[in-house]
Amino acid sequence: MSERLIIFDTTLRDGEQAPGIALTPDEKVTIAHQLARLQVDVLEAGFAASSSGDFQAVSRIASEVQGPVIASLARAHPDDIDQAWDALRHADRARIHVFMSTSPIHMERMLRMTPAEVLKASVEGVRRARRYTDDVEFSPQDATRSEYPFLIDVCRAAVEAGATTINIPDTVGYATPADFLELMKRIYAEVRGDRSDVTISVHCHNDLGLAVANSLSAIAAGARQIEGAINGIGERAGNTSIEEIIMAVKTRQDVFGVEIGADTTQIFDTSRLVSQLTGYPVQFNKAVVGRNAFAHESGIHQHGVLRDRETYEIMSAESIGQRGAQIVLGKHSGRAGFADALNNLNISLEEDEFMQAFAKFKAMADRKLEIGEDELRAIATSGPSGLAAAEVEMVGINVSGGHDTTPTAVVTLSRGGVVSEYTGQGGGMVHAAFSAIRQCFGIEARLVDYRVVPVTAGADAMAEVNVVVRVGDITYSGKGVSTDVVEGSAEAFVDALNRAIGAK
Ligand code: KIV
Ligand code: ZN
Repeated sequence: MSERLIIFDTTLRDGEQAPGIALTPDEKVTIAHQLARLQVDVLEAGFAASSSGDFQAVSRIASEVQGPVIASLARAHPDDIDQAWDALRHADRARIHVFMSTSPIHMERMLRMTPAEVLKASVEGVRRARRYTDDVEFSPQDATRSEYPFLIDVCRAAVEAGATTINIPDTVGYATPADFLELMKRIYAEVRGDRSDVTISVHCHNDLGLAVANSLSAIAAGARQIEGAINGIGERAGNTSIEEIIMAVKTRQDVFGVEIGADTTQIFDTSRLVSQLTGYPVQFNKAVVGRNAFAHESGIHQHGVLRDRETYEIMSAESIGQRGAQIVLGKHSGRAGFADALNNLNISLEEDEFMQAFAKFKAMADRKLEIGEDELRAIATSGPSGLAAAEVEMVGINVSGGHDTTPTAVVTLSRGGVVSEYTGQGGGMVHAAFSAIRQCFGIEARLVDYRVVPVTAGADAMAEVNVVVRVGDITYSGKGVSTDVVEGSAEAFVDALNRAIGAK
C-alpha cells in the first residue's frame, strides 16, 4: 500500500495573513467546518498568542470542529506555547506548531540572537510543547536561506527534543524545484533517517510562482506533509494552493504514488466560500478552481470535448464538485426552495441569518430574473456575520448628480430602531454614500481597501463589494452584494463599521 500524504491546511493562519483579510471568529469557524468536509488532515486554525481574536477562533475551532487535527502556531517562547495549548485543549487531536528562524539574516537582523541561542530556544520550545501534546511540529523559518549544516543541526535537535513533524518553510519563496529537491533529500537523510515516527513536511511561498512545483518536488524526496492554503492565499504572493496539490497528486498517481484522504468533490465549495469570506477573488484562469478551468472556447476544443471530454480535459469539473448551472431560483421561489438550494451548496445559516439572507434574495429576485449558484453563495455570505445583531441597518439609498453636478447621496439608516436620513457629498457616488454613512456612525474610520467583484456576467450582473476599514490599529472588513454597485458599496461600508462598533 502506498504511503499517505498529509494535507496541512493553513488558510486560517498563513492565508489569513494576506493584506486586507480580516475574518471574524464566526467566519473562521464556518471555513473550518468546510475544511473538515474537504477532509484535510491538519487544520491550522490560527496563531493563538497573536491576538484575542485568533485565540478565540482557535479555541472555538478546537471545540467545535471534528475530523482534522487542529493546530496552532507558536513562536518558540514559553508564553506562546502555553497560550497555544490553552486554545487547543478541547480538540480531539491537537498539534502545537513551534517555529524559530534559522537564516543568518533573520537571526542577526530580526531576532538579534546567536545561532547557539536559536538552537537552545528551539529545543526548549519543542520540549515545552511536548509537555502538552505528543503531536509537535517544528519549523525552522526561512529554511531555504539558512546555512544547511546549521539548519540540519537545529532540526535534529528538535527531533531529539520530541518534534514529530519537521516542516521546511521556503518562507520567502526563494527556492527552485531543483534546489528544493536537493535540500529535501538532505533533510530526509540527515534529519529523519530511519525514524518512521517523524514526518518531513514543506511549506512553500509563491514569490516566484513556484510554490506548488516546489512542494511537489519535495514529495519525490520523501516529504509526506504539504502545507498550503485554499486558493493559494497568504503573505505577499501567497502559499501553495492546496487544491492544486490535491488534484495533482490524485491525477498523477503514476508520478507521485502517495495516497491522499481529501474529498475532491468539496474543492469547489471550499474555494468559493474562502473567496467570498476573505473578499479575495479567484483568478479566472486559476488552475482547478478558476472560472475557466473547465471552459473550452476555441471551436476545435469544443468539437473535441463534445465527442469525448478527455480530448481536452485531464480531470472533470464534477470531480472537484462543480455542479454546473443546476441551481437557479427566481422571484417565485419560496423559503423552502431557498433553504433547499443553500443546503445543496453546503451552506448552513442560523435562523436570523437565514431570514436576512432570504429577505436579500427576495429583493434581488425582484430585480433579476434568475439567481444562480454563485449569486446565492454571495447572498448567503454577505450578511452582518460576526455580530449578534447589527446596530445600524441600511434602509435605503438615493444618489443624484454626476457629470457636472456634485454627486450627493441620501442614505436612510436605522440605528437601534431609530430611522434617520443622512446626506453626503463626494467626488463620486460611492464617496458621497460613504460620507453620509460616516455621519451616522461618528467614528474615525480610514478606508484601506475597496474591491468590486462581479459575481456573474451581463448588464444585470450582481456585484460583490468588499471594504476594509481601519479604526485605530484594528482593521475590519465588510461585504455587500447588489445589482447596484453604489448600494452594494454602502452596504459593505455599513457592515464594516458595524463590526468596528460591535467590537468595542
Ligand atoms: O512561511 C513561514 O515560514 C511560516 C512559518 C511560520 C511556518 O509561515
Ligand atoms: Zn508561511
